[in-house]
Amino acid sequence: MTQQKIVLVTGATKGIGREIARQSGALGWTVVVGGRDLGRAEAVVKELAADGVEAAAVRVEATDERSAQEAAGWIERTYGRLDVLVNNAAIIADGDAAVSAVPVETLRASFETNVLGLVATTQAMLPLLRKAGAARIVNLSTELSSLERVGDPGSPMSTVLTTGYNASKAAVNMVTVMLANELRATGILVNAADPGNCATDMGGWDAPRTPAEGAAVAVRLATLPADAHTGELHAEEGRLPW
Ligand SMILES: NC(=O)c1ccc[n+]([C@@H]2O[C@H](COP(=O)([O-])OP(=O)(O)OC[C@H]3O[C@@H](n4cnc5c(N)ncnc54)[C@H](OP(=O)(O)O)[C@@H]3O)[C@@H](O)[C@H]2O)c1
Repeated sequence: MTQQKIVLVTGATKGIGREIARQSGALGWTVVVGGRDLGRAEAVVKELAADGVEAAAVRVEATDERSAQEAAGWIERTYGRLDVLVNNAAIIADGDAAVSAVPVETLRASFETNVLGLVATTQAMLPLLRKAGAARIVNLSTELSSLERVGDPGSPMSTVLTTGYNASKAAVNMVTVMLANELRATGILVNAADPGNCATDMGGWDAPRTPAEGAAVAVRLATLPADAHTGELHAEEGRLPW
C-alpha cells in the first residue's frame, strides 16, 4: 500500500497556494495549510475537509522564523515526517518600483518575506523532509525572475518595474539551485515553479490564467518521479531560462 503523503503549503490562505492545497488534497495527500493568520488557515482546512481531504492548519509567518520552527515541531509530533514542501508565500511589497526609485525599505520587505522567509521555512522543515522517502521541494518563482527574459528588451518581462519582487525571486532561484546541489545525493528534488500570470490578489483579477492553472505547475513539480530534474525553473510550457 502506498503511504499517504504529507504536504505543507505556505501562504495557502488564498490564491494559488489555496489551489495547490486543494489539488494536493485531490491526490489523496494530507494537507498542512500554512498561513500567517491561523484562523484563515483553519477556514481553508474546513473547505478541504468538506471535500473529504485530511487537512490541518499551522501558523507560518514568513517574517518570524520561530513560527516555522514551531510548525515543524507540530508536524514532527503529528506525522513524523514531511513528503512535500511548497514554498508559496510571497509578496509584492508596497511601493515596489524601478531600480532608480524603489525605497530601500520596500526591497528589505520583499527579501524578508520572499527569500529569508522561504529559507527559514526550508531549514526548519529539512529534517522532516529527510525522513520522508523521496521528498520534493517546490519554490514558487516567476518569469519576472529570469535574467534572460527580463534582459531581453523585446520581452514584456522587461517592462515590469517591480525591483523588489523580481530581484527577490531571482534570489529564490539561486537558493533553489544551491539546495538542489546540496541534496542531490538524497533523492530530494528541489525545483522552482512559474505559475504564469494568474488572477489573484497579487496577479490582478484580469490576469489570463486561473489560480488552478497556476497551481497545476507547482503540483506537477511536487509529484515528479525519482529520475526527474532538480534545480530547474519550470512553467506550464516547460523549462524556463534563468
Ligand atoms: N499570481 C500571479 O500571477 C503569479 C505569477 C508568478 C508567480 N506567482 C507566485 O505565486 C505565489 C502565490 O501568489 P498568489 O498570486 O497566489 O498571491 P496572493 O494571492 O497574494 O497570496 C499570497 C499568499 O502568501 C501569503 N503571505 C504573504 N505574506 C506572508 C507572510 N509574511 N507570511 C506568510 N504568508 C504570507 C498570503 O497570506 P495572507 O492571505 O495572509 O495575505 C497569501 O496566502 C507567490 O509566490 C507568487 O510570487 C504568482
